[in-house]
Amino acid sequence: MFKKKKGLILSLTVASSILFAAGCSDDASGTKSDSGKKGDLPAVGATIYKFDDNFMSYVRRAMETAAEGKVNLMLNDSQNDQAKQIEQVDTLIAKGAKSLAINLVDPKAAQTIVDKAKAKDITVIFFNKEPDQSVLDGYEKAYYVGTNSAESGVIQGELVAKAWEANKAKWDKNGDGKIQYVLLKGEPGHPDAEARTKWVIETVKEKGIEVDELAMDTGMWDAMKATEKMDAWLAKYNEEIEFVITNNDGMALGAIASLEKAGYFAGDKFMPVVGVDAIPEALDMIEKGKMVGTVLNDAKNQGAATIELATNAANNMDVLEGTKWKLDDNKAVRVPYVEITKENIQVGKDAY
Ligand code: BGC
Ligand code: CA
Repeated sequence: MFKKKKGLILSLTVASSILFAAGCSDDASGTKSDSGKKGDLPAVGATIYKFDDNFMSYVRRAMETAAEGKVNLMLNDSQNDQAKQIEQVDTLIAKGAKSLAINLVDPKAAQTIVDKAKAKDITVIFFNKEPDQSVLDGYEKAYYVGTNSAESGVIQGELVAKAWEANKAKWDKNGDGKIQYVLLKGEPGHPDAEARTKWVIETVKEKGIEVDELAMDTGMWDAMKATEKMDAWLAKYNEEIEFVITNNDGMALGAIASLEKAGYFAGDKFMPVVGVDAIPEALDMIEKGKMVGTVLNDAKNQGAATIELATNAANNMDVLEGTKWKLDDNKAVRVPYVEITKENIQVGKDAY
């Protein structure tokens, strides 16, 4: 237990030094190449698990921006279908991709992709969905760009605890001192969903606050699914619910839509809601007082880092050459998470 915490603190320190370094070399990728035609540029093959994911659409935009003038980015929508993604990888390799940037549909499919890349001796940068360490360790040219998943749960837990302490006179509706919460989880098996769900609650408890889980279920990262779940929970528990914790902002927005239908956020009917990502729509909700806070999941830097490493690989250079990124012991670039509330909302706005 203690050991785990120590590791987390260590990685947070590493993360902050990356953040610091980030501030110092902003124009690392700013110069536009005038080599003109896409055909002259080395090809990078990329897949996004599904374009229809709110957060991934921002990562995708960052990738496209970072690729401009540097590589011919062949970007595919895997439509949440792992078999389709594997076919896309075959096609990308056949079309001459010099490196791959892969956002897996199913984290368990990483080995299949590595086998294909290895056969052609090309580098794979996995991003956003972390593969098992053994897969990265098994191929010299496999890397990961993402975050430290647990860190977002810890930060969210601190946010929940702080907000609760400051407002419990009003928010502890049944006056038992405990938080009766519902939790909307991301996709089961997704490392971010698993770690966030675990660490948010562990952290609240470590702060000495007792909790009661009224309900927990997956909303698959999706706003509409979250609205349906929240509708059902409100019908069942209504006044008993004291906190809505979600693994991402998409589901937080979905929960808020349901709460609004039920009369919340009007008069003095209020419900604390927290998310992760800091997408612009969630920042808007924070400003309107309908969300307590979120945790910045830095889409821009994750997208840029993915392309910078893939570009270096496509040019037969060391993946880190000329970038501000560092690899940890697990061959991963981990972009730090940041707590976002009304007080530092600008940090979130600047990041998107
Ligand atoms: C984000 C989610 C997103 C998921 C996709 C997570 O890191 O927080 O919003 O749906 O990645 O894999
Ligand atoms: Ca209570």
